Amino acid sequence: MTAETIHATLTETRTIHPAWVRVCHWINALAVLVMIGSGWQGYNASPLFGFTFPRAITFGEWLGGALLWHFAAMWGLVINGLVYVTLGIATGRFRRKLLPVTPGAVFADVKAALTFKLGHDDLSHYNAVQKVLYLGIILTGVLIVVSGLSIWKPVQFQVLTAFFGGYDAARYVHFAAMSAIVTFLVVHVSLALIVPKSLRAMITGK
Ligand code: HEM
Repeated sequence: MTAETIHATLTETRTIHPAWVRVCHWINALAVLVMIGSGWQGYNASPLFGFTFPRAITFGEWLGGALLWHFAAMWGLVINGLVYVTLGIATGRFRRKLLPVTPGAVFADVKAALTFKLGHDDLSHYNAVQKVLYLGIILTGVLIVVSGLSIWKPVQFQVLTAFFGGYDAARYVHFAAMSAIVTFLVVHVSLALIVPKSLRAMITGK
């Protein structure tokens, strides 16, 4: 066996994403899609800006239905998110895969990506841009949940609501976090389709 064959065999059989990462990732993806669609329907009932979302891309049929979906998916998102973050810290995955990340490394990898020189050969290693995006989206996940709690129960969570500067301000923060997640999703899903083996690894683990 040549060194190349051994390397190829190892790469094919090595577990890149353990089962808990894959299960959490896909539960999260489903919950996020339901939350975004139903959130847009809820937004349409009381828009913050001068536009509403086309009905065809919203979820839940009407305000009452959308809110039921939004709060049902919320439990999935939060419980699943807590499991993912706890295991990510406890198993050392976050430290190994997402840290350290330095501005210099991000700059170098953005430059490499823009000149089509950023390799995807080793799926077990995240480049600096991926690290920043994944850390950023995990923190955005925390922000959208905390701002959502401030809007959902502004009396019970009044300390949180006050932290955001009041109910109205918390709504703007919640909207901004949603916009960041949608932007991330467009880039993230496009990249997964451009590099299909990364998608396969997130499904089969290998
Ligand atoms: C719905 C369609 C989605 C698809 C097709 C998708 C696809 C993927 C793929 C292929 C990977 C591994 C990519 C790699 O090697 O860099 C990945 C990782 C990841 N995705 Fe997604 N994803 C989706 C939704 C989401 C959503 C909604 C979020 C969060 C809001 C998310 C957050 C992440 C994170 C944090 C990782 C890194 C996980 C880890 O290594 O622990 N994804 N995704």
